[in-house]
Amino acid sequence: MAFDSLEQRDARSVIHGLTNLKLHAERGATVIERGRGVWVTDNHGNDYLEAMSGLWCIALGYGNERLAEVAARQMKTLAYYPLTNHKSHPPVIELAEKLKAIAPVPMSHVWFASTGSEANDCAARLAWYYWHAVGEPQRKKFIAHKLAYHGNTIATASLSGVSYAHDKFNLPLPGFFHVTTPHYTRHAHPGESEDAFADRLLADIQQLVEREGADTIAAFFLEPVMAAGGIVVPLRRYLEGLRKYLILNNILLVADEVVTGFGRIGEMFGCTAMGLQPDMLVCAKALSSAYIPISALMMNARVYEAIARQSDEQGVLGLTMTYSGHPVAAAVALEALKIYGEMNIAARVRQLEAPFLNGLNRLLEHPLVGEVRGKGLLAGVELMSLQSATDKRVPFDPRLKVGALCARIAEQHGLIVRAIGDTIAFCPPLVISETEIEEMLARFKRALDQALAALRAA
Ligand SMILES: Cc1ncc(COP(=O)(O)O)c(C=O)c1O
Repeated sequence: MAFDSLEQRDARSVIHGLTNLKLHAERGATVIERGRGVWVTDNHGNDYLEAMSGLWCIALGYGNERLAEVAARQMKTLAYYPLTNHKSHPPVIELAEKLKAIAPVPMSHVWFASTGSEANDCAARLAWYYWHAVGEPQRKKFIAHKLAYHGNTIATASLSGVSYAHDKFNLPLPGFFHVTTPHYTRHAHPGESEDAFADRLLADIQQLVEREGADTIAAFFLEPVMAAGGIVVPLRRYLEGLRKYLILNNILLVADEVVTGFGRIGEMFGCTAMGLQPDMLVCAKALSSAYIPISALMMNARVYEAIARQSDEQGVLGLTMTYSGHPVAAAVALEALKIYGEMNIAARVRQLEAPFLNGLNRLLEHPLVGEVRGKGLLAGVELMSLQSATDKRVPFDPRLKVGALCARIAEQHGLIVRAIGDTIAFCPPLVISETEIEEMLARFKRALDQALAALRAA
């Protein structure tokens, strides 16, 4: 690092999430200065194929002029206005209508926030509010999956089933329960069929609900395909059984579509792809293609009518955020949705799914690759160790940090991916071309070869 380089200045002043802060002070940041399409460039002029869409979000890629122009125009017309005390503005009205029009199930109204965490947090709070409104205030508990990621506010970190969000943070709060990750290949018992696995997980949920009392459970939160949990595609039998069980027990279903929303897994919403009918649906990230923070919480008439009635009794809905429905963010989101429509984004993803997933599946021949999971343009490649005696693949000792090593080497080969334990996540911008997919695969293959050589040399 040169004296007073950007890397040094960063290390002196900036705190980075999901980062070892001490290590960061030694190795410094990768400083990204600009981007175009699926490519970003660092402050030394190195180009990287950005195969993670930043943090699962920049669906339309970098440098989209239309989104930038709409933002500038809206800033000049009406840079800000709150939605509190009966105020509104055209972009937010149009955006709410548009979201309702494309929602996977009939939705009644939309609440806006700035991030996925906030919208999920609001979903939890409004679930409590809803149960008060319908005379069951004892319904306070939430269920989510182990390894699910729903955000980082106190409530959504509690919903998330990841130890790094809990340990030493005094979380999760009481009343937040986590059930088995629906990851068949990881959690099935020896010889257990997919159907038997799904049924066992459902029986475990039933046991938990019966133990706690169904009438104490407010909502079940789930991602149609789990992203940050290592790309887990739940079995359809499991989701169908869960859907029916929640209806039977009058438990609200909140679909967290923060990653899956807007074409990512081959349908406009993951709920359509996975056959889910949520009472509330949360989206963010690709809603504005990450050009500006905005998230949305759609709710059906059952939820909306109850909370509207209660707000009338109380005189006001006691939920407010300065930037809820920010006009610039709403205008950018509207333009992003327009572009998705013009590109027929879900059909495009379905078309690219084969070259993307087949290409990753071909890597199963590589000695480091144990499993490939994915749907649409979202995938995880799990690195495993090949046992020469048995020809079986077994997980690496987590302490070896093989995933992190491979992601670091990929970066040296001009490819940005994310290591989730030993799973390498891929979530490229939806504008990626077939040629760029091939380039991504070629760079990843080179990174795997180098990681293998490094492991053998160690
Ligand atoms: C499924 C899911 N839900 C919620 C969130 C939280 O969104 P945000 O980081 O915008 O608060 C994320 C973030 O990655 C996510 O992947």
